[in-house]
Amino acid sequence: MVTMETAELETDLSLFKYDSLEQLPAAYRELDEAERTDRIETALAELGDDVVILGHNYQRREIVEHADFVGDSYQLSKEAAEADAEYVIFGGVTFMAESADIITDDEQTVILPSMEASCPMAGMAEALQVDAAWAEITAAAPDENIIPITYMNSYADLKAFCASQGGLVCTSSNAHRAFEWAFDRGDKVLFLPDKHLGENTAHRLGMEDAIAEWDPWDPEGKDAEEVAESDIILWDGYCQVHERFREEHIEQVRADDPDANVIVHPECRREVVEAADVAGSTATICDTVANAEPGDTWAIGTEIHLTRHLQRWHPEVNVLPLCGDACMDCNAMRQIDPNYLTWVLEELVAGRERNVIEVAPEEKELAQVALDRMLEI
Ligand code: 13P
Ligand code: SF4
Repeated sequence: MVTMETAELETDLSLFKYDSLEQLPAAYRELDEAERTDRIETALAELGDDVVILGHNYQRREIVEHADFVGDSYQLSKEAAEADAEYVIFGGVTFMAESADIITDDEQTVILPSMEASCPMAGMAEALQVDAAWAEITAAAPDENIIPITYMNSYADLKAFCASQGGLVCTSSNAHRAFEWAFDRGDKVLFLPDKHLGENTAHRLGMEDAIAEWDPWDPEGKDAEEVAESDIILWDGYCQVHERFREEHIEQVRADDPDANVIVHPECRREVVEAADVAGSTATICDTVANAEPGDTWAIGTEIHLTRHLQRWHPEVNVLPLCGDACMDCNAMRQIDPNYLTWVLEELVAGRERNVIEVAPEEKELAQVALDRMLEI
């Protein structure tokens, strides 16, 4: 009985959205770095302006080094919107590549080098779960206008759903503005899927007493009528990489060096964000370290690749991972292997497109509305 229920759930809720994408051919699996770099540069020289590579701040060094633009989710979506290249190679995760496909022109093609780069948090709010929750919550508050906001870390169908209900998308750098936009137009917000970003944003707006949580995995434990009494309803999703950080890590850093500064991503738990000196998107983290004085110490509470990049980019600043060796890399971001990058580029040189991300047309139009609303706030 239990096995059947699990099997049913797995067919309905998938972690890997694009599990039909192609695997790396054997000939590309054992390339050494010097050969790979040479081949990537040769392919890029041949492709010229036909290709632009966008790299998220959490990508490996070997990807970031070849990227035309490196940035946070918001900056990359703006770069995608402005890109002229025929091919946008996305060094990031599936939901980011989907957003790039939505924002770019129809003649442009978005390629995600590796198939398994799927953010687990995006998979925590599947459209069919959200549909069910929406029906319950709206029925419990029939006279209220509830505006759904989805974090960028979500799939295109959820972005489309939000647009269809008068809502929008946000990233960690503009979540507060998205909430303000929504409260100008409605009575309540349903925020998906990251409960920590939602809670941190509610605090930023002084609305911390207006929060309720919706746990989609617990059919018994939630009462739609009680939840619908709150102005901000938070979907119970989270990022494992950021949940790992605790207040004790900040206390330890300050005990080791009372002058140390701490910056964390707003996907961290509320008490961690509260204890830190600064909280902000990956771009804010980069800018803060870039503007630090030589000799300053900054402990970084986010994905470990970014911390390592900052150590390389700013050797004059003492950059530390907030929880030392316990800091995690993002397993989804790590799937973008530089061997995959070599393969997709050489295939383009040979006239073949591999691992193309194509959002279904019926979702694309509406998801674009939700993204455009974000780009306008
Ligand atoms: P940013 O929008 O700050 O780049 O963050 C994206 C992300 O996935 C953080 O885990
Ligand atoms: Fe998703 Fe967390 Fe990875 Fe960001 S760090 S892409 S939220 S799993």
